[in-house]
Amino acid sequence: MDFVKLELRAPVAIVTLDRPDCLNALNNQVYEEIIATLQDVEKNSDIKVVILTGAGKKAFAAGADIAQMVHQSAIEGRFLGGLCHKAANLLENMRQVTIAAVNGFALGGGCELTLACDIRVASENARFGLPEVSLGIIPGGGGTQRLARIIGVGRAKELIFTCDTLNAEDAYRMGLANHVVPQEELMDFCLKMAEKITSKASYAVSLAKASINNSMNVDVISGGNREMDLLGLAFATNDKKEGMEAFLARRKPDFHDF
Ligand code: COA
Repeated sequence: MDFVKLELRAPVAIVTLDRPDCLNALNNQVYEEIIATLQDVEKNSDIKVVILTGAGKKAFAAGADIAQMVHQSAIEGRFLGGLCHKAANLLENMRQVTIAAVNGFALGGGCELTLACDIRVASENARFGLPEVSLGIIPGGGGTQRLARIIGVGRAKELIFTCDTLNAEDAYRMGLANHVVPQEELMDFCLKMAEKITSKASYAVSLAKASINNSMNVDVISGGNREMDLLGLAFATNDKKEGMEAFLARRKPDFHDF
């Protein structure tokens, strides 16, 4: 991999977008490497949490690579959109919890990757934005779908139409960033959160993730029905038996992922 680095620290994987010369701009190759890396991680049963971040102190990713896009045709633009969506859908739907450690600019496609993560933690210098209409295109990696679901339709439209960026505090205030921390503490903060998550029953965490994701796409009754089914599945696990027996015996549970 040239532009994506994978560090396995089981049960956590750190995926770093690593093209700092151009603020980790996302070209086809970067997206393909993100997809291949996430597909690998998804198969790795030792990994429970994925932290996605950018190399350097300035950017998570400053968007799709404008130097590449300037030469691209409609067909190529559509193909690029497919890569963006594939990467985002993986982050959103993989069984592991995904945390975006947003260490600077998260613009365009970079912002869209953070939107697909389960949790966003911003460093104080983070800036979020979808400036595509200033380039004559539109957000094409899920930005017109996911931003409104997170911060509301009116705010999402304003950001996309004006190309304004949100600083970390504003992102926090709008619920886009779960936390804001000093940059030098960002990775430790995310690792501590990962530690908390990985201490729980990880199969149950993945069922909860699937149920919450499903709720975003269906009415509350259908979502509730799926939740009941997943609850039933959770009752079939050894982790449920272990978690409850450990609680009653006042000891720490020893979970084994099913
Ligand atoms: N695509 C390609 N190259 C990019 C890039 C992108 N999305 N974003 C930044 N770069 C490159 C710059 O061209 C520059 O390269 P150079 O050193 O060879 O000239 C390098 O990264 C550093 O960026 P620079 O613009 O000099 O940094 P800055 O601190 O002045 O500004 C930003 C930072 C993020 C505000 C600015 O780079 C920017 O607006 N980037 C584009 C954001 C965008 O529109 N993204 C959406 C794309 S759909």
